[in-house]
Amino acid sequence: MIRPVTPDDAGALAALLTANRAYLAPWDPIREDSFYTEAGQREIISRAGNSHLYVIVEDDAIVGRVNLNNVVRGPFLSASLGYWVAESAAGRGVATRAVADLVDRAFTEHGLHRVEAGTLTHNVRSQRVLERNGFTRFGLAPRYLKIAGEWQDHILFQRLNEPDRR
Ligand SMILES: CC(C)(COP(=O)(O)OP(=O)(O)OC[C@H]1O[C@@H](n2cnc3c(N)ncnc32)[C@H](O)[C@@H]1OP(=O)(O)O)[C@@H](O)C(=O)NCCC(=O)NCCS
Repeated sequence: MIRPVTPDDAGALAALLTANRAYLAPWDPIREDSFYTEAGQREIISRAGNSHLYVIVEDDAIVGRVNLNNVVRGPFLSASLGYWVAESAAGRGVATRAVADLVDRAFTEHGLHRVEAGTLTHNVRSQRVLERNGFTRFGLAPRYLKIAGEWQDHILFQRLNEPDRR
């Protein structure tokens, strides 16, 4: 269902992002045109830094992405979750399952204590994905991210690795 992205996925991702450019635009930062090219995607994949990037795969085709961004270790052991699913695969539980898989990996493979996610206040679909995965709302961040060209308020959610009781 999800697997780590590789540079060989760049072409397929560029094509999928191009096909979904208008669909994703209200939920995304404004992107440079290079973002929609194979070379641009290859660069993003190779410069992942402190992120863990995954593709969502359905019937051997990439249908979206899910990421753990800004992984911080030390006493925080936390990361920010990001995801999108192509319009052609929407509304079938793909994001819900991909987030479940990624959160599991965050707590096992990556040893994290906490995963955070922020949604636009009107992104009900994304809020449902988080709620179904046991995330709880902990705040409202005013003018938190520049999405679609505007600094927009976000609802913040988190899920803790519950066995971390010490
Ligand atoms: C948010 C997103 C990832 C959801 O992907 P998806 O695979 O369609 O999601 P799922 O099918 O797993 O779940 C969608 C939920 O929203 C609900 N939903 C779908 N359309 C809806 C609508 N118009 N209004 C309210 N709820 C809606 C579904 O019923 C489902 O909830 P349920 O599990 O309670 O039935 C996808 O729409 C997307 O990529 N959006 C643009 C990018 C984005 O917003 N990313 C997240 C940023 S925080």
